[in-house]
Amino acid sequence: MSLPWFCANIKNYQETIEQQCQQLQVPAPTAEAIQTSLQLAQTVCQEIDVKGGLTFAEFMQMALYQPALGYYSAGSHKIGAQGDFVTAPELSSLFAQSLVNTVVEIFESCERSILELGAGSGALLCDVMLQLEKQNCLPEKYYILEVSADLRQRQQQLAQQKIGHLVERVQWISELPKGFNGLIYGNEVVDALPVDLYRKSNPQLQMGSVVYNDAGFNLTWQPTDIPEALVTHFEQWPDGYQTEYSPLAESWLTELLNCLDKGAILLSDYGYSEADYYHPQRNLGTLQCYYRQHKHNNPLFLLGLQDITASVNFTQLAMAADAQHAQLLGYNSQAMFLIANGIEQLAQAADSDTIPSTAEQIKIGQQLRTLLMPDEMGETIKFLGIGKEGKQCKLSLSAFSLSNQLHQL
Ligand SMILES: C[S@@+](CC[C@H](N)C(=O)[O-])C[C@H]1O[C@@H](n2cnc3c(N)ncnc32)[C@H](O)[C@@H]1O
Repeated sequence: MSLPWFCANIKNYQETIEQQCQQLQVPAPTAEAIQTSLQLAQTVCQEIDVKGGLTFAEFMQMALYQPALGYYSAGSHKIGAQGDFVTAPELSSLFAQSLVNTVVEIFESCERSILELGAGSGALLCDVMLQLEKQNCLPEKYYILEVSADLRQRQQQLAQQKIGHLVERVQWISELPKGFNGLIYGNEVVDALPVDLYRKSNPQLQMGSVVYNDAGFNLTWQPTDIPEALVTHFEQWPDGYQTEYSPLAESWLTELLNCLDKGAILLSDYGYSEADYYHPQRNLGTLQCYYRQHKHNNPLFLLGLQDITASVNFTQLAMAADAQHAQLLGYNSQAMFLIANGIEQLAQAADSDTIPSTAEQIKIGQQLRTLLMPDEMGETIKFLGIGKEGKQCKLSLSAFSLSNQLHQL
């Protein structure tokens, strides 16, 4: 097989990446990162040759998770101020401290175990364990299911540094356990699941697939049958409307529910109800890429060097849970969830523990604003709670007490 010009050798690939960086106005990656990206590009091209093109979900899967080469699998610094994007647990330990109020409530109705999905840098693990220790409510076990070998290593290092005395309670696992009893939690995990791309080109629906030419990867669009989930929305979309659909979200949630014997699943993520997700005005979809704190929407650039995400259709998750006869505990914005969990009081308490400098007060204020303001994470991130209980016992969480927006799903 002959490789296309852009990834035939390191010199051509370097030139290609430099052009992409100029176009996006972002800093160039290191030589080592470009070398890893080249290997990934060559692997993706081989896969395209074998299959005659990749669905976007297949391409996204390789870009993010190809062993040793994909964005989450290779060694770049991804999460946090020095990385490509910042998540709520990274931003402030107030996030984990507030979440702990819900964890303690859930522990009243099941075993004291936590399973965290996709634990990123390990910041949430450390802050949750320290807060639970303070509240004398430590879990017997804190399991982490992490698909990225690189992140697993970073999590283990951080846990040794920050919660070395508790680390024997933490266990990294490579597949979902059977008969789990406790809380399953994931922040910004569902938005990292691969999605397919669709476009309306009157009168058809088309599906995007990834191919290549000598200059790089391209999207091509072929007519496709309308997936059942999109039928009711399709008619309302204007010509040229583009969107995403997650082919994996339902089966992924069903697997989680199958492994959960008793307890709850809590998911927080960028996302919307289905009506908002497929609203005719959201005509460019929700796909976003993050590279060194720059946000853009070209997933075909900087292969394996940038994060690719798509917002979550929470209705799709809620319906999958309902189909498994699970209990929908609540759905709300991050702001409402954290306020109901007392984040403002926790911030004041943090202020009054020691006399903070003005700089520290300003920092806490900025963290609160980012977590709570509607145009930041406050409204764009939602929490969905799902319970699995015995017939007699209905779990009720006060985090959804201020307002519960389940009716929107
Ligand atoms: C955007 S990061 C969020 C990290 C962390 N939860 C945070 O909030 O900082 C996505 C995480 O999900 C993990 N991930 C992706 N797919 C997963 C899956 N199917 N199961 C478990 N973790 C997954 C990634 O490796 C990564 O750790």
